Amino acid sequence: MSKNKSSIKTKKAKLIINNHTYEFPIYNSTEGESVIDISKLHSLAKIFTYDPGFTSTASCESKITYIDGDKGILRYRGFDIEDLANKSDFIEVVNLLIYGDLPNKEQLKKYKELITRHTLLHEQIINFFQGFRRDAHPMAMMVGVMGALSSFYQDSLDIGDAHQRQEATRRIVAKSSTIGAMAYKYSIGQSFISPKNNLSFSENFLHMCFSNTAEEYKVSPVLAKAMDTIFILHADHEQNASTSTVRLAGSSGANPFACIAAGVSSLWGPAHGGANQAALEMLEEIGSSKNINKYIRKAKNKNDPFKLMGFGHRVYKNYDPRAKILKKISRKVLKHVGVKNDPILKLATDLEKVALRDKYFIEKKLYPNVDFYSGIILRAIGFPPEMFTVIFAIARTAGWTAQWTEMIEDPIQKIGRPRQLYTGEKFMVYGKNRSKKNTK
Ligand code: SDX
Repeated sequence: MSKNKSSIKTKKAKLIINNHTYEFPIYNSTEGESVIDISKLHSLAKIFTYDPGFTSTASCESKITYIDGDKGILRYRGFDIEDLANKSDFIEVVNLLIYGDLPNKEQLKKYKELITRHTLLHEQIINFFQGFRRDAHPMAMMVGVMGALSSFYQDSLDIGDAHQRQEATRRIVAKSSTIGAMAYKYSIGQSFISPKNNLSFSENFLHMCFSNTAEEYKVSPVLAKAMDTIFILHADHEQNASTSTVRLAGSSGANPFACIAAGVSSLWGPAHGGANQAALEMLEEIGSSKNINKYIRKAKNKNDPFKLMGFGHRVYKNYDPRAKILKKISRKVLKHVGVKNDPILKLATDLEKVALRDKYFIEKKLYPNVDFYSGIILRAIGFPPEMFTVIFAIARTAGWTAQWTEMIEDPIQKIGRPRQLYTGEKFMVYGKNRSKKNTK
């Protein structure tokens, strides 16, 4: 815990174990829950805490993102997400997350130039794509190529060197969009399109995805703004599964590209970033509002593994503020692309209405999350569902690199190494004992 005002010890928590009272310091946060520092518990009482899924565990101290799940609040470095979505742009938000404050005009201009000049990839990286099947999921290419960057940018692997750390963060954010676009082009059998330095980050991404060697894609300001806002909304989210993966990988001293590749892998899961693809596919499977009740019943049925994708959240027990903003953007984008009454958007809003009136969803506080509406927008812009999580990953490189930097620069940082509740066999002699559980 860094010794600053937010960590001055105030009260103590008492734990009585085997009639012995142990005291642990409580640290106050600047917003949200306080924490009990139990780091000495095992050495004092030879006992572990047990918290599968870390539902009540703070893994670190951070100053980057604050979420109030009950009030539906999300702030990056204290700035409310709606404020940033309306007034900022993605690269300014990247700078804010990593450096802690909004850059001035000069700093932002310079930072944008730095990011732009890192969007190109080493020519040899193109060979990596040739090794994938054409029908490989674009996230498989994101994982593979992101990790491979460490073999090309060896002058930004030394995590002890502040300049190399910063260079690595810029390369990861900048190149993630080029890799994502290349993964898309490769999966549809089109040539790769190089980035253009005169375009903004979001305009460039749309250009690299939708231009082709026969025709330049005309980037519409409405779609570029929608793309940029989607990147802002997905940029960071406190200690979620993929960010915790990046922190844990980074705590061993692994190079930044390998850590981010680990984060991409974790994000791919349908319970996490993969939910945006799963949510759209679910809506397409439901097909029409008359089938809603059947699927709500499936979602409530304990014996049915079906979950309403894009609904529910570990932290938000209220409406995800990002979903609110995305719902508004979906209407604007659909209107812009000339889709009057998109049946999928109508189905999504009908499904939301039915679910939010249902006792099960009310009791369990299950609301639409960031993944419920994002797919509708991305599909309207022209992306296939397989690209939705790639876009989430591009945006989240901002948060992953900011959180990784904060962890590496934390003076009390150490390798993450949780313990366990062991319930396996006691002592077995080879050739004499057999496991009681071995019914074979
Ligand atoms: C993201 O952590 C982050 O910050 C993630 C993220 C980010 O920006 O990084 O916000 C991005 O990952 C958003 C979440 C995307 N995932 C989905 O939309 C998939 C569907 N949602 C569920 O899988 C679930 O809600 C989770 C995984 C998101 C949260 O799971 P938790 O916190 O472990 O909650 P839980 O599974 O314990 O659910 C509590 C109860 C359970 O019922 P009981 O066992 O108490 O009877 O609610 C039920 C669950 O079965 N439930 C659902 C449900 N989500 C939870 N039931 C039906 N449909 C759902 N979607």
